[in-house]
Amino acid sequence: MEAILQLRNIKKTYFINKPNELKALNGIDLDVYEGEYIAIVGESGSGKSTLMNILGLVDSFDGGEFLFDGININEFTDEQLCELRNEKIGFVFQNFNLIPRLTAQRNVELPMLYYGKKRKERKEKAEELLGLVGMEKRVMHYPNQLSGGQKQRVAIARALANEPSIILADEPTGSLDSETSKKIMKIFSKLNKQGKTIIVITHSSEVARCANRVINLKDGKIVK
Ligand SMILES: Nc1ncnc2c1ncn2[C@@H]1O[C@H](COP(=O)(O)OP(=O)(O)O)[C@@H](O)[C@H]1O
Ligand SMILES: [Mg+2]
Repeated sequence: MEAILQLRNIKKTYFINKPNELKALNGIDLDVYEGEYIAIVGESGSGKSTLMNILGLVDSFDGGEFLFDGININEFTDEQLCELRNEKIGFVFQNFNLIPRLTAQRNVELPMLYYGKKRKERKEKAEELLGLVGMEKRVMHYPNQLSGGQKQRVAIARALANEPSIILADEPTGSLDSETSKKIMKIFSKLNKQGKTIIVITHSSEVARCANRVINLKDGKIVK
């Protein structure tokens, strides 16, 4: 079976050719298979978020190759990358990144809006996804009327809006207490059992334990 994501000697340097040049990623080789649940761990500044942003087609890299579903994306235009990202990837962040002026339901509908889905379809899908994460009773709540854990549930529902095959989460429990974190991790495990590929950055060994594979980053490299 071929990996859905293949990184070959990926490098990312900030301030290229400047005296204070900074190698954020220093030759990353990584294969991610469909249905995997991967935790990325490592000290602050080790390159976790940089790696995630490259995996999520958000950031460029300046060396190496990236095959997505077997296709080399090095020559893709920004537009092609954007399309691939919207279709295949759902993002979850530490600080939820919900839109304050929109209800939970509207937040979840937002990614579908860009796809031109009809109003009724959007509403139904948003309700279904909010139900999946246990938020069926908070559909009309605004973010500031929700707890941290509830906000993260809404954010996960939003990440699922366009039925991505891959979920990327950067410290999704970083702002949550340990009880709430456990509940959020249960949702990720459930999604993984439903076939989603999940990659989670975390500081927590408890969170990392939920994964099938742990990748340890140090100074921009994968270490054993
Ligand atoms: N936009 C940027 N410009 C310059 N340096 C950056 C930028 N983003 C990250 N870095 C640097 O790259 C290294 C890796 O950062 P990051 O991937 O955010 O690490 P982590 O998520 O593991 O804490 C750090 O030394 C950080 O300071
Ligand atoms: Mg980070």
